[in-house]
Amino acid sequence: MRFIGNKENLLGKIYQIMTANGICGQSFFDVFAGTTNVGRFFKKRNYQIFSSDLLYFSYVLQKAYIVNNQEQIFEKLVQHLKIQSSFLFSTPIQKIVEFLNQIPGKHGFIYKNYTPIGGRMYFSEENGLRIDAIRQQIEDWKNENLVSENEYSVLLSCLIETVPFYANVAGIYAAFQKKWDPRAVKKLTLRPIELVTNSSENQCFNSNSVDLIDKIEADIFYLDPPYNQRQYAPNYHLLETIAKYDNPDIKGITGLRVNYKEQKSKFCNATTALRELEKIAQLGKYKTLILSYNNEGIMPQHEIVSILSKYGEIKLEEFDYTRFKSNNNGESKHKKQIKEQLYILQKK
Ligand SMILES: C[S@@+](CC[C@H](N)C(=O)[O-])C[C@H]1O[C@@H](n2cnc3c(N)ncnc32)[C@H](O)[C@@H]1O
Repeated sequence: MRFIGNKENLLGKIYQIMTANGICGQSFFDVFAGTTNVGRFFKKRNYQIFSSDLLYFSYVLQKAYIVNNQEQIFEKLVQHLKIQSSFLFSTPIQKIVEFLNQIPGKHGFIYKNYTPIGGRMYFSEENGLRIDAIRQQIEDWKNENLVSENEYSVLLSCLIETVPFYANVAGIYAAFQKKWDPRAVKKLTLRPIELVTNSSENQCFNSNSVDLIDKIEADIFYLDPPYNQRQYAPNYHLLETIAKYDNPDIKGITGLRVNYKEQKSKFCNATTALRELEKIAQLGKYKTLILSYNNEGIMPQHEIVSILSKYGEIKLEEFDYTRFKSNNNGESKHKKQIKEQLYILQKK
């Protein structure tokens, strides 16, 4: 998924650095879960995973990918729908996705507000209708008790993972593009997600992680906080609204959710970020704390070092990374070389 700070492409390097520094364990707290890519990576390596994020759509992904520990069979739903798959070897999730791809479009909140019908160009009219139809159908199945909690989170995650492939945005949802991106005019086709399972009891939360640090005990705390002033909730408001489907009050040209007070992160301000970092370093129940940051982050390096070194031995590992940056309307992209940083703190 396109998501600011997504570590998917850096995980190999991060793991290599961890291994070279002898960092290992059995439990891992992904303190700023986002897309859940980090949690999934360590879940595959059989760690017990804890994860949390302020964003609700991240929580849905966490339930599907991190907590869920088996392929869902959708027994009730498959029986109810009496669906036959056109593919002989389809799995239950593939069958349901195939069914959802065939239901007719429906008017709903997304069509009314985020397509040209509502004066906004986030989705084509056809795709707006499709998103509403799929989202409403998933909710109806939940209300009719035809899907379990886990199955519900898996289906919602299929939609959350599919939508970015058809959104007419340059990566973030704070604005839509003025011209249609070729991606956005293709007919939306729901994609099944691939599940990861392990033998641990994994837990996830939709909460301010700083409120959890003294409640969760894990060998490794991995911190990947926002690194600039931009709050995540407004930048990903549409994924939130599709996940919650709560008909929120919205405002302005871009249709932002009016109320996201509870989702404001203190890591988007240098002074409060340093204070929160210190709380985690001081009160967290971990053996090793790893902070992922970069040389453009708002917390200055010397302040991070001075805080962390109060609580144990620290080491800073750095590596170069090329980031592709789009301009505001996504019409041009340029390469930018940045230094990714891992601050490793071994607790006293
Ligand atoms: C840099 S992103 C994490 C990216 C993630 N590692 C990935 O690979 O997708 C930062 C995340 O932290 C979340 N966040 C910010 N402040 C938070 C807090 N106090 N508690 C929980 N989550 C927070 C944001 O919503 C965002 O999803």
